[in-house]
Amino acid sequence: AVQRTFSIVKPDATRRNLTGAINAKLEAAGLRIIAQKRIHLTKAQAGVFYAVHKERPFYDELCEFMSSEPIVVQVLEGEDAIAKNREVMGATNPAQAAEGTIRKEFALSIGENSIHGSDAPETAAVEIAYFFSGLELVG
Ligand code: CMP
Repeated sequence: AVQRTFSIVKPDATRRNLTGAINAKLEAAGLRIIAQKRIHLTKAQAGVFYAVHKERPFYDELCEFMSSEPIVVQVLEGEDAIAKNREVMGATNPAQAAEGTIRKEFALSIGENSIHGSDAPETAAVEIAYFFSGLELVG
């Protein structure tokens, strides 16, 4: 089925001018960018987005990193978009990411891993709604 998923080009990637290269990989994988904007989160805003990870030891570092520099938030649409996006992103840890994936090619570490993608339809809906209004989704 056609799905929508939420994606973030993270600060390590925007800093190295990799937004276009990452978008090219997303599009080549059959995903359509139906909304996109560059924003700079506050640490508090990053904290709300990553609230599910509140108890993890890396939570503070994660929120610090995600608010350190601009990010590009996106909504991607396509057939099985959530699985397709996770496939082209590659494993969270770039050392374990498959050849040709975004994280294999661009990620610096498990934290500075260039891209975020929703893990399920329910989280995609919540994440999209945190950053975009319905009017901004142009499918
Ligand atoms: P993301 O998909 O954005 O969701 C949670 C993020 O936490 C994940 O990507 C990683 O970048 C980050 N993360 C996971 N494990 C660690 C870790 N051990 N140290 C730092 N960051 C981590």
